[in-house]
Amino acid sequence: MVAGNWKMNQQLAVGKALVKAILAQEYPLKSHQEVVFAPPFIHLPEVADLIHQKENHFLSAQNCHQESSGAYTGEVSADMLKSTQVDYVILGHSERRQYFNEGPALLAQKVDTALAAGLKVIFCVGESLELRETGQHNDYVGKQVADSLFHLPNEAFAHLVLAYEPIWAIGTGKTASKEQAQAMHAHIRQVVATAKGAEVADTLPILYGGSVKPDNAIELFAQADVDGGLIGGASLKADDFVAIIKAMS
Ligand code: PGA
Repeated sequence: MVAGNWKMNQQLAVGKALVKAILAQEYPLKSHQEVVFAPPFIHLPEVADLIHQKENHFLSAQNCHQESSGAYTGEVSADMLKSTQVDYVILGHSERRQYFNEGPALLAQKVDTALAAGLKVIFCVGESLELRETGQHNDYVGKQVADSLFHLPNEAFAHLVLAYEPIWAIGTGKTASKEQAQAMHAHIRQVVATAKGAEVADTLPILYGGSVKPDNAIELFAQADVDGGLIGGASLKADDFVAIIKAMS
């Protein structure tokens, strides 16, 4: 999977032009490969109309509320997303954890609500530079996975995608090396295997995110436990995003 997280970027006309410029290019996908667009909420219905005409193209929101409806002015529910032809929702992104104070218990609730609405979840984890430099990154990321996901029954994992995004690599131009990415992905898979069994762990897609660009995507995606990428900045440029999609193959 290659998923483009636009964050709070692109006015509607610019976003639609970007999607059209991407779809106009040739990039054959294998049956198990997916391209995901995660535009801001307000663009979702229009982007849905553009991308759902193409096979293996899916739509993601960048967040949802933990309750399925109610008096929460300004919020968007998982059920609303589902009714707008949304397929996935990104939860646990480090920007939401940091700027909107989203912690493990709230995220567990959001995961439950999203899955109950029939959405799939792209769940993000990742450590700060300080945690990496003090050698606590494996324990920290393993706990992030456990705290918000291990209450789920094994069957639910078929509707989950994990994304490892070291905070020090997001938007900084600093990418984890292929060795660092592979080591953490293997660790995450091991943590999942211990709790949920090898079958769940082996079939769980784990994306890498953090300054993925056309020139590093091939070596990152070539790692045994890296199943694709969650792309921020480079998903806003059609040629770069297409080059990263092609790196899957
Ligand atoms: P970046 O963002 O590719 O701009 O580093 C990745 C992300 O935050 O999902």
